[in-house]
Amino acid sequence: MNNNLARLITALIMLLAQTAAIADLENGRTLTERNCTGCHDDSMYTREDPRVTTLGALQKQVRRCETNLGLTWFDEETNDVINYLNTQYYHFK
Ligand code: HEC
Repeated sequence: MNNNLARLITALIMLLAQTAAIADLENGRTLTERNCTGCHDDSMYTREDPRVTTLGALQKQVRRCETNLGLTWFDEETNDVINYLNTQYYHFK
């Protein structure tokens, strides 16, 4: 394949992947705003003595709150919320 064409295709694929990642984050934000502000607002995620101190704990806590709410999210939706909260507030690796 022509080198320039290969580069163009690579760039397009990266752009698509980025767009998908941004869409997932937006989805996570929307789901959080719609479902998770009944009991606690965003300050819960930045409180001084957080219950959640690792990515694993964040995953567990999001599932716990989701289940308590009786939501039946797909894994993908749960992951979007975890990813959103981590990107926006927690910043775990
Ligand atoms: C029915 C009330 C309720 C709703 C609605 C709720 N939560 Fe919670 N959430 C809690 C309570 C209570 C705590 C604190 C638990 C503790 O301190 O032991 C908490 C804590 C958390 C924490 C940990 C905060 C920390 O200390 O770092 C996260 C993350 C979280 N919730 C995510 C969510 C998400 C995501 C949703 C929406 C799916 C949600 N919560 C909806 C009750 C709720």
